[in-house]
Amino acid sequence: MPTKTRLPRPSVTAALILKRTDVRPRLGIVLGSGFGAIARAIQVEREFPYRDLPGFPVGSVQGHAGRLLLGLWHDIPVAVLAGRAHYYEGFELAESTFPTRVLAALGVTTLVLTNAAGGINSKFRVGDFMALTDHINLLGANPLRGPEPEGMNRFVDLTQAYDASLRTHWKAAAKAAKAKIHEGVYIAVSGPSFETPAEIRAFRTLGADAVGMSTVPETIVARQCGMKVAAVSCITNAAAGLGGKGQVVSHLEVLELARQREDIATQLVGGFVKRIG
Ligand code: HPA
Repeated sequence: MPTKTRLPRPSVTAALILKRTDVRPRLGIVLGSGFGAIARAIQVEREFPYRDLPGFPVGSVQGHAGRLLLGLWHDIPVAVLAGRAHYYEGFELAESTFPTRVLAALGVTTLVLTNAAGGINSKFRVGDFMALTDHINLLGANPLRGPEPEGMNRFVDLTQAYDASLRTHWKAAAKAAKAKIHEGVYIAVSGPSFETPAEIRAFRTLGADAVGMSTVPETIVARQCGMKVAAVSCITNAAAGLGGKGQVVSHLEVLELARQREDIATQLVGGFVKRIG
C-alpha cells in the first residue's frame, strides 16, 4: 500500500545495501511485464525483498513482492529492480520512484528501463520491441513535484531523456536475439483502465508510437540524478481500436504475450547490456 510516511534519504537505504554486499553496480535494470525472466539470468550475489529496504514501495498488483537483486550479468555488476510500483496502484510518484533514487545512490550511472506497451504505430506488430527515443508524459503528475532534493535541480532538462548513443546498440542486440525492434515515442497514461479508441487516435496525432503506464516517472527521476537512460518496450497488444473488429484489450492478454516473449526479451536486453558494458 502507498506509504503516507515521509521517505528516507536514498543514500541511507543505499548505505544499508552496500554494507551487505560486495557488488558495486554501475548498471541498473528495471524489469517490467515481459522482462521478468531477466531475474533468472542474473548471477545473483545478494537479494533484498523491498519490504526490508526503508522507503521501498511494497504491495504490487502482480501478486509477487518486489526484490532488489545485486549481482553480475555478462560480468557486469548490476542492480535489478524486479517489480515496480505503478501510479495506478495508488502510490505517489515520489514513492514509486524512490528505488530509482536508491540505484543512483548505489553508484548506478546507466539505467535500463523495460515495459510492456500497446502498439499505436501501424508498422508495429505484437511481439515486436521498441527502443524509446522520447516520451510524452500524460500521467497528469510529475515525480519531481514537491521539495527539491538536496544538491539537485528540480527543473530537469529532458531534451535528451533517452541517451542517443546508448540507443544505437539496440539494433545489433535485436539482430542477435532474432527480435524485431523499432524506435519510437512512448506515451505514459495513469491507467489502470485501458484507453478508448478515441484516445488512441488522439495519441497517434500527438506523435506517440506506443502507450503504457510506467517508465516515464523513472526516466525523469533518473535524469535528475544524472543517470543515462535507455528504455525498451515489448509491444504486447494493438492499442485500443487498432486490433480489428471485436477487439478487447485485456491485462491477461498483455501478460500472456509478455510471457511468450520473455526469453527473447532476456536475450535482447542481455545483448544490449553486453554491448554497452
Ligand atoms: N495500454 C496501456 N498500457 C499498456 C497497454 C495498452 O494497450 N499494453 C500494455 N501496457
